[in-house]
Amino acid sequence: MRFNFFAIAAVFATTVIAQGNFCPEAARFGLVNVSPSTLSPGETFTVTANLTCAIELGNTPTFLDYYIDATATHTVSGPILIARRTYDNSTSPPIDQFTAVLPNWFYFTDATYTFVMDNSFARAGPTGESVITVGGIETPINITGF
Ligand SMILES: *[C@@H]1O[C@H](CO)[C@@H](O)[C@H](O)[C@H]1NC(C)=O
Ligand SMILES: *[C@@H]1O[C@H](CO)[C@@H](O)[C@H](O)[C@H]1NC(C)=O
Ligand SMILES: *[C@@H]1O[C@H](CO)[C@@H](O)[C@H](O)[C@H]1NC(C)=O
Repeated sequence: MRFNFFAIAAVFATTVIAQGNFCPEAARFGLVNVSPSTLSPGETFTVTANLTCAIELGNTPTFLDYYIDATATHTVSGPILIARRTYDNSTSPPIDQFTAVLPNWFYFTDATYTFVMDNSFARAGPTGESVITVGGIETPINITGF
């Protein structure tokens, strides 16, 4: 059994290298970038998600949900939804790029903001049934000018 495990692991490693990308664990759900990364309400920004590593590691998106989340020492409202998108796995290169506008909302000067991408991807369960699970990644942003 132990021998079989290492044989499978070696085949998997070879496959990843053969596809030409080193995919760190941190990129397993994809990578997301926001430009500009300092935003004011009403400002247009560009979101770019790179799904190369998500797909290579078997986490091909079905849906991509994008949020802005905040943390502070006081209560702040839950994440605000920026976009909900269906991913087409024939997209080449595997990039999801779009523009969005920062909504007018209740922002705080002492809060820390992040831009979050949730990748919902299908996995086979114990009976082979396809089940959608979710993994996320985030990147810092600043919100000013409110
Ligand atoms: C997406 O990520 C892959 C793997 O890290 C990288 O090789 C590729 O250049 C990236 N694509 C873009 C458009 O940034
Ligand atoms: C998505 O496409 C890649 C090749 O571009 C393929 O390896 C992968 O299996 C596909 N995923 C799904 C869920 O169809
Ligand atoms: C947020 O603002 C600080 C202070 O100006 C700056 O150092 C930092 O790079 C900014 N972060 C982003 C993600 O733009």
